[in-house]
Amino acid sequence: VALKVGILTGGGDAPGLNAVLRGVVKTLARRGHQVWGVLDAFEGLVEGRGRPLAYDDVSGILARGGTLLGTSNKGDAPRRLREGLANYRRWGLDGLVAVGGDGTLRHAYALSRLGARVVGVPKTIDNDVAATDVSFGFDSALSVAAGAVEALHSTAEAHGRIMVVEVMGRSAGWIALYAGLAGGGDVLLLPELGFDLRRVAAYVRERHRTRRYTVVVVAEGAASGADVARRLSRLTGIESRVTVLGHLQRAGSPTPADRLLGTRYGVGAAGLVLAGRWGRMVALKAGKLTSVPLASVAGKVRRVPKGHELLRAARAVGTCLGR
Ligand code: F6P
Repeated sequence: VALKVGILTGGGDAPGLNAVLRGVVKTLARRGHQVWGVLDAFEGLVEGRGRPLAYDDVSGILARGGTLLGTSNKGDAPRRLREGLANYRRWGLDGLVAVGGDGTLRHAYALSRLGARVVGVPKTIDNDVAATDVSFGFDSALSVAAGAVEALHSTAEAHGRIMVVEVMGRSAGWIALYAGLAGGGDVLLLPELGFDLRRVAAYVRERHRTRRYTVVVVAEGAASGADVARRLSRLTGIESRVTVLGHLQRAGSPTPADRLLGTRYGVGAAGLVLAGRWGRMVALKAGKLTSVPLASVAGKVRRVPKGHELLRAARAVGTCLGR
């Protein structure tokens, strides 16, 4: 029998959302199933706003940023899930694919507990979704952030300044760690590790005996970049500037890696739907596509573990981690 499957994209957008939509819709449509797009995440679910998504609708969107369906990360919709469930039933959905980060997946799990059949897909540039090695969007953010960290070296050196770059990552420092290391940042400040700015200042002073400049990468969840710049200047007497990368990290076309991951996750999610494996989230483990129970993801955050190999690598090459 032909299924009618809903799909929504929730939370802050991430490059690769359209690749996922394309993967889900094309896989299901080619087998004669119908896909129903829910607009603006849970907002559209509780307000009953949706539209059919046909094969042709998702043609040509693989490399496009944003999301065809719109998204939302505010409002009270997640607290009105019963209204959402009523629309799910009114639309005659056989199941729902929820593409999102920690918040969306938590609400999706709650919806499944109310009786909906749900499959999850891990999205977020922060890379902090539990139970998967990677969420799509992270590689695109990494590419923007690493490029910026690297590029700032030349202007920092020209002026002999401390250049502070604030990257995204509210609860986890994955972007700061990866982009900092890949961009050659001298100091990396992660929410997981905390930091002592007097130690950082001592590192900077020591470094400036032989070098003219320092590039500091700070995750927004560790401190505000402006704050770090101001305080470091005061402690070292060295002029500083701050660059906040902000939403540039989520903007524009997904990297090829995120187009691939989005496609794999989309096709994988459709596979779970076809196999009737509800209540699961597609995941990547050791490079392999797999799935995990939504219950093992909901309400959890994947942070950088203290013993992570890249932290050791950073220390080994003389990077200051704030302590
Ligand atoms: O979770 C993704 C993220 O980009 C975070 O890194 C950031 O803190 C947050 O979303 C910002 O969200 P917005 O500005 O869309 O409310």
